[in-house]
Amino acid sequence: NRIAVFASGRGSNFQALVEAQRKGLLGAEIRLLVCDKPEAPVVELAKAADVDVFVFQPKAYASKEAYEREIAAELDRRDVDLLVLAGYMRLLSPSFVETYSGRIINIHPSLLPAFPGKDAIGQAVEYGVKMTGVTVHFVDGGMDTGPVIAQRAVEVREGDGASALAERIHEVEQRLYYRVVSWFAEGRVSLNGRHVTIADN
Ligand code: GRF
Repeated sequence: NRIAVFASGRGSNFQALVEAQRKGLLGAEIRLLVCDKPEAPVVELAKAADVDVFVFQPKAYASKEAYEREIAAELDRRDVDLLVLAGYMRLLSPSFVETYSGRIINIHPSLLPAFPGKDAIGQAVEYGVKMTGVTVHFVDGGMDTGPVIAQRAVEVREGDGASALAERIHEVEQRLYYRVVSWFAEGRVSLNGRHVTIADN
């Protein structure tokens, strides 16, 4: 399997995927990082890991379709078969999602459908839930609405602020995401309407 990672920021999930690949645990090769923020730390991580980078400035394009056409060309040139969103802070257009339907996944720091959108961890703290977590899901046309592939629960401890909770959530993300990618590589993931089945190996 060949994957592309889409990210906009720090890149801790990207880095965890790189390390899993090095250890032979990813079952896939990271062929490309797609990033919409030239200054993002994840760009340096990709260079250090010898991963090709397509970095663009959305404002330099006339439309979302225009930059997504370039992204698609970069993906196709590398025969990428799975698009792995890891903190990519933009919605993909419906036609892009349609083109790669069933081949785009995202990781979100809550137990969806609770707390979709931005700052899910802050939302959970604010709401006062006792349990939150991490969701990996297929991407559809909505914001964090696609079929759920895997979830892990994370307890909110008394006195947890957003940053203490975030740290534990990020650890769980980093242990989960490469495993999900490896399930794809092993051909174990099937999607039936909204329902995802993971075959035993
Ligand atoms: C993660 O919490 C992920 O769930 C969310 O964005 C964050 C990205 O963090 N979608 P990082 O850039 O991987 O460190």
